Amino acid sequence: MPDSSGFPTTRLRRLRYLPQVRQLVRSTRLAPSDLIYPLFVKAGGRGREEIASMPGQFQLSLEELDREMTELAGLGLGGVILFGLPAAKDATGSDALSDQGIVQQALAVTKRAAPGMLAISDVCFCEYTSHGHCGLLHEHHGQTDVDNDATLELLGRQAVSHARAGADMIAPSGMMDGMVGSIRRALDAAGFTQTPIMSYAAKYASAFYGPFRDAADSAPQFGDRRSYQMDPASDPGQALREVELDLAEGADLIMVKPALAYLDILRSVRDRFPGVPLAAYNVSGEYSMVKAAAARGWIDERATALESLVAMRRAGASAILTYWAKDAARWLA
Ligand code: PBG
Repeated sequence: MPDSSGFPTTRLRRLRYLPQVRQLVRSTRLAPSDLIYPLFVKAGGRGREEIASMPGQFQLSLEELDREMTELAGLGLGGVILFGLPAAKDATGSDALSDQGIVQQALAVTKRAAPGMLAISDVCFCEYTSHGHCGLLHEHHGQTDVDNDATLELLGRQAVSHARAGADMIAPSGMMDGMVGSIRRALDAAGFTQTPIMSYAAKYASAFYGPFRDAADSAPQFGDRRSYQMDPASDPGQALREVELDLAEGADLIMVKPALAYLDILRSVRDRFPGVPLAAYNVSGEYSMVKAAAARGWIDERATALESLVAMRRAGASAILTYWAKDAARWLA
């Protein structure tokens, strides 16, 4: 007698028995074109220097970037996102605004070596300031803080300088209030009305960024980023408010960051804003943990990485920024 569940008439294992059926009933797809590869470019760098905390990732000189882009051109990736390590840092992060800045030069190399590849630039100040914070500092009621409104003007200038150097898309990551609107106005005023903005809209103050701060040499020299990045324990509705505001200010694509510990946020953003392209940033710590365990033979890197990327897609991400982009493109080929 069948019980009320329908068993034995209903056997869900029938959908799993044959690999061909499993393949047919899959609904989450992962393709190289969904993946964006982060690259670190170092002014005056010699060759490629492996990042100790991120095995398999490198700080590239401009010459090595040229070589890397040529190699990436044929992999069908969704794009690259560039991070710069300037020759010198100062209190205002002036390299970020210079037409001869490291990212500006890197963008030129990228567009020359792989003209068909989408080149995204991260717009923020933490890699360029001597104090490592994401904007200008000021004293506010006896406390040193990032001066939100003074930083906005600089973000607009940085974005325009990147667009002039060849950036196809601008990705502001500093979590300043009003940053998307300021950047949109600055781009439009300079004639870049067709340059999209991918906003790091819901970006949390996360320990999972640890290895990145080695990679980009961008650790805050004092304090932390909790007065601008989101509190992991805050109400998920706050992430929706961040997204809503950024969209109202003109964001074209929205990002949630980190990814794995924030799949619930990805899902809520996807459900609340169905038509909006949504990116997830599979951050440095998520990568390094798997690398470290794989190096000890404790975990299968390829299977774990692909499963993580599928989980992000299933939670609603249309695009994923990931250090596995290049490897995954080969695994998926
Ligand atoms: C800020 C920025 C950070 C990351 C991307 N853009 C670091 C931070 O906010 O501290 C982190 C990426 C990662 O961990 O992989 N420019």
